[in-house]
Amino acid sequence: MSGAGPTADRRCTVWRHARLATLAGPSGWGLVEDGALVTRGAHIAWIGPDAQLPSGLATPDAHEQDLRGALLTPGLIDAHTHLVYGGDRAGEFELRLQGATYEEIARAGGGIRSTVAATRAASDDELFTGAAQRAQALMAEGVTTIEIKSGYGLSELHEGRCLAAARRLARELAVTVRTTSLGAHALPPEYAGRADAYIDAVCGWLGAQQAAGLVDAVDAFCDTIGFTPEQTQRVFEAARALGLPVKLHAEQLSNQEGAALAARYGALSCDHLEHLSDAGVAAMRTAGTVAMLLPGAFYFLRETKLPPVAALRGAGVPIALATDHNPGSSPALSLLLMLNMACTLFRLTPEEAFRGVTVHAARALGLADRGTLVPGQRADLAVWDAEHPRELAYRFGHNPCRRVMFGGFERLTPSGPRERAPEAGALP
Ligand code: NIG
Ligand code: FE
Repeated sequence: MSGAGPTADRRCTVWRHARLATLAGPSGWGLVEDGALVTRGAHIAWIGPDAQLPSGLATPDAHEQDLRGALLTPGLIDAHTHLVYGGDRAGEFELRLQGATYEEIARAGGGIRSTVAATRAASDDELFTGAAQRAQALMAEGVTTIEIKSGYGLSELHEGRCLAAARRLARELAVTVRTTSLGAHALPPEYAGRADAYIDAVCGWLGAQQAAGLVDAVDAFCDTIGFTPEQTQRVFEAARALGLPVKLHAEQLSNQEGAALAARYGALSCDHLEHLSDAGVAAMRTAGTVAMLLPGAFYFLRETKLPPVAALRGAGVPIALATDHNPGSSPALSLLLMLNMACTLFRLTPEEAFRGVTVHAARALGLADRGTLVPGQRADLAVWDAEHPRELAYRFGHNPCRRVMFGGFERLTPSGPRERAPEAGALP
């Protein structure tokens, strides 16, 4: 562990006497007992044993914080959410409990399409406010980066409004937002029976979304109640032509060999994957695609088919976890709960689960600057009332997050605004 180069004009914080879980290296927690970490500007400048803290590294006006043995980890990353939408689907939840299936409700015009109607009817401010409340619930648990998909507008206008609401979150809250265009989520009613024409429209509006700075990646829902592999491929071709990375809701309800298709397009991640085939695992390994497991949707839809964790692990495919927060299949607002669920339901180890919401989640977003505590990485940090990081996967319904630093600035509360206005260029 070593220092970074001198940029002494930048504000410093020295976190001392912490238990550090660095996640440096390909495996293990990277624990440092009685560790210290120095942030300079938006980044980590030094990390190591407190006893080896170099004198003169921090600026004279550096803030020094004694963590008295508390756990310090990278900020958490929720790399698959659908946070922007109108309404809720609590009534559909009751219907499912009475025996209706998710697919039956979707085919009867409910499901995603009922949220589309509520989303189109919501004002821009209503979309923003609902999403902001949900984002703050995630942030209270140490989340510093959130991926947000569109997919409940399903027209150029309404998809753009949803992506704009996601961008506004990044401007108004102390969190990084990555946006994903998911026009190919469901067929809107005005295109009933004309799925190919709808896919033409989706492909057509991607360029304008990109030009407006609204989109970081492109996703689709390839399944029996979503779109076919051929339609998905057309969306991927349009994304490729624009230089946008792709990801896919793949093999959630059935095996369409969508993961292999996505891997051929160098997908950042394939998500859900309960029905993933061996060929899909092999294709993801070759492409370096992350397997994004979503235990909230598995649980809430009362699925029984488990994702092939042993095969993914055996192949060395990086596994990430996310809330998949959405009103239909996973109204979850706790990434910590996903750690516990991934261990209990999918048999991940606590370390695998934690890597899934840090290192591997960062990779699933194509972000190389976060997810570990290493000099040069962003100073996105979470302080926990815990002795060992495995406790974060062990307890559930409990939030031990005490403090959060976002890009070198401590939030006033774990989900609150920045401590003070950012320096120009210090934040995304
Ligand atoms: O990730 N699978 C498709 N999309 C969402 C569910 C959307 C909904 O039901 O509203 C998911 O589970
Ligand atoms: Fe999803």
